[in-house]
Formats: sequence, C-alpha cells, structure tokens
Amino acid sequence: MRDDKLEHSLAAAAGRDLPIAVRGSGCRIWDREGREYIDACGGAMVMSLGHCHPRLVEAAKRQLDQLTFTYRFSFSNEPMADLSALIREIAPMQRASAFFNSSGSESVESAIHMAILYWQHLGKPNKIELISRYPSYHGSTLGALGLSSSRWRKAFELVLEKNAIAQLPGADIRARRSEADELRFGLDQIEDAIVSRGPDHVAGIFLEPISGASGAAVVPPEGYIDGLRELCNRYGVLMICDETITGFGRTGEWWGSNHWKGKPDIVTFAKGVTSGITPFSGMAVAGNIAEVFLAKPEGFPWGHTFSGNPLGCAIAAETIRTIRDDDLVTRGRALGERLRAGMETIAASSPHIGQVRGKGLLQGMELVTDRDSLEPLAEASNRLAAFAKELGLMIYSCPTPLGRRMLEAVMLAPPLIVDESDIDEILEKLADALRKLDASPHAETT
Ligand SMILES: Cc1ncc(COP(=O)(O)O)c(C=O)c1O
Repeated sequence: MRDDKLEHSLAAAAGRDLPIAVRGSGCRIWDREGREYIDACGGAMVMSLGHCHPRLVEAAKRQLDQLTFTYRFSFSNEPMADLSALIREIAPMQRASAFFNSSGSESVESAIHMAILYWQHLGKPNKIELISRYPSYHGSTLGALGLSSSRWRKAFELVLEKNAIAQLPGADIRARRSEADELRFGLDQIEDAIVSRGPDHVAGIFLEPISGASGAAVVPPEGYIDGLRELCNRYGVLMICDETITGFGRTGEWWGSNHWKGKPDIVTFAKGVTSGITPFSGMAVAGNIAEVFLAKPEGFPWGHTFSGNPLGCAIAAETIRTIRDDDLVTRGRALGERLRAGMETIAASSPHIGQVRGKGLLQGMELVTDRDSLEPLAEASNRLAAFAKELGLMIYSCPTPLGRRMLEAVMLAPPLIVDESDIDEILEKLADALRKLDASPHAETT
C-alpha cells in the first residue's frame, strides 16, 4: 500500500515501493501489511542486540527523563564519563580515551582530524597524507568517502582525495594466491604506499580489520594485521582501525582487531554501539596520543553538535553492559560457527558460491558464474537479496568494484541475541533463495 506522505521523502530506492516497517523485536521486523522478516543483517550490520532490546529501551527512557543534550564546549555529562570508562575497559589499546559522535562517517572524520593534528602537535606538519585500502568503505562524508574505494565514490571522484591505494589481501579470489603469498602481497602493498608517498608525509593508515560492506567479510591472512602494525611502527604512521561494523562482538571478539596481536592507535566505532536505538558513534584513542591533546588548552575541540550527547552515551553504556552481562561475545562466536557451517553446506550444493568467509556473526558469500573461473555472477548480489526478502529473510547485498570487475557478494550479520533456531531458519531461507538464483542465474535483459 502506498503512503502519499512518503512521496515527499527522499529515499534510497526512488520509484520503488519499499515495505513500510512498523515494528521490530529481537531479530524480527514487521511491515504494515503484517509481513514478518527475519533480520539476518541488521539493516547494515547495525543490530548488535536486535531490535528494541528491552534493556536499551529502558536506558533510553530513563535518560530521556533526565537530560538529553549538552553542548561539548559548555558541559560534560555523567553518561559520557560512564561510557568513556567502559570504553577504556574494553578498548584494544592501552589507556584509551574516547570521543563520541553520531555516525560512522563522523567518527572517521574525527580520526582524520586527530591523525593530522597529532603530527602537527609533535612538530611534523607535513605528515598529512592518509593511506587506505581497496576495496573499502569508510563513510559518505567527503573525507571518509575519499578514504573509501567502493561503488559510492564514483560520482564524486573529482572532488575526493586519492587515498585508496593499497589492495587488501584476500579480496581477489581469482588470484588464487596461497595464504603466505596473500600476506606478502598485502604487506607489500602497504609498504609501497608508505614509501611512495614518503613516510615524512604519511599521517595514518585506515583499515577495516575484517572488511565489511565493500568486500563482504574478507578476513586478512594470519600475520597481516601484526605485520601492518610493525610497518606503522617502523615508518612512524598511525594505525587506525575502522571498527564501525566489526566492533562490539560482531566477529566473535569485542573488536575485529582483537583477533590479532597488533593493536591499533585509534579505533572508530558506530552501528552496533547502540543497536540502532539512536544514532551514535565514537573513537577510542591510545593513551600516548590522547595525552598530546589533553596537554593542550583546547583539548580535542573537533567534533559535531551532538558529540557526546547524554542520550546516546547512556544507551551505548547499557549496550556494553548487556553484552558483558549476557556473555554475548562468547555466544556470538559459537553461533557464528553454526552459521558458518550451515553456509558452507549450502555453498557445497550450489555452483554459484565462490567462497564463504568471515568471522563470528559476520559472514559473507561471494557469488560467481562457476567455481573454475570464479568470475563474478553479474547482478547476483541484489538478485539473491531480493529472492531472500520475498521469503522474509533480510541479507546484505554488497556489489563492490575491484579493478575492472564488479565483485558480487552478500553478507549476513544477525544480532548477537539470536538463538540456534533463528540461525537454522536463516539458513533454510538462504538455501531457498539460493535455489532460486541457481534456477535462473542471469538477470533478465529487456
Ligand atoms: C566500515 C564503515 N565505516 C564507516 C561507515 C559509515 O557509517 P555511517 O553510515 O554511520 O556514517 C560505514 C557504513 O556502512 C562502514 O561500514
């Protein structure tokens, strides 16, 4: 049913009638026609605790009655202090300080500000270049989009910084490199980027420790994150992990980067930090970097009107406590194994799955014409996601440019609160959707 009022709302799917969602609970969402969807991707990997988690709703209500906004140049607030202390406890780096914003893109912008200012404060104003990797996605604001190498940058190419220069290892399954060769390839890419730009000019490297929306859960080879840390130490470059998707237990650890020893200097986070209750994000910064700013009279003044708003902080703190109290990181790891095993079984019976990959409850599938060539199956990601949606299953479609090819992949990221039967239902529906794709692998051309 169309809603005339929606005619005036600029939406992502111009001209298409999206279902109108009216209710969400746990890993389910319902539309106005009463259709139920099992949400196996949390929209865009947002729902760490599912829809409308009662503890988060209660925390929001309590805070709504108390204090919802303070301006960072005028006041601090208790939820912000409480959340900063919690972030310090779980952060991957030593003596972390935190800074908060409202979206993943904003926090990537804050990390850009911080990386450049840090070197200025240390008397190295020429260190302004940023390195990032392809494929990747770091956000839609122009600074973050400039770091990204995804289909979303094309229209703005002329106004964007040309940062994305190091290919991430494991992204091109057609290369059929061994794990050892991928490792060498990936680290060479980074070292070449640093040396060609000149270490005296490079401020930081941005990376998703496990790739998200661009690349669909590509896990780096063993040794890559540690090797990257070593390169950053050697050349004096900040290592900035964008954990917008991979934070808060998504991959079976509190942070994606926790799977390895090499610790980032800065992590950015968003999405799962409030499980969709309110827009919120932040960054955690290693003590040795934070102290440089804390020693300045102006501190770290960069940010946004809603930076550190008490409502978001209170909900984020409750999210962390809930994940801890319910041991959801461990639970997510175990359920991730069940999901992964089921996806492998499904993949074995389809000629169109080139690879299943990921960690914890972040799992991707690359879609190919056949397993010999591993060539991408054109338009398969959107078609598979559409078949799944018809069956009441939400999965995330990630077509991603890589050189001359458009990679086709889908990703699953169910909330950490799912149970075994939810996982089994997701797998059954995924298998049904894939059977539809296998039956008509090519999009109809008119
Ligand atoms: C890794 C990563 N960084 C940053 C962003 C941007 O987050 P937001 O859309 O909240 O600005 C995204 C969004 O998908 C993301 O996946």
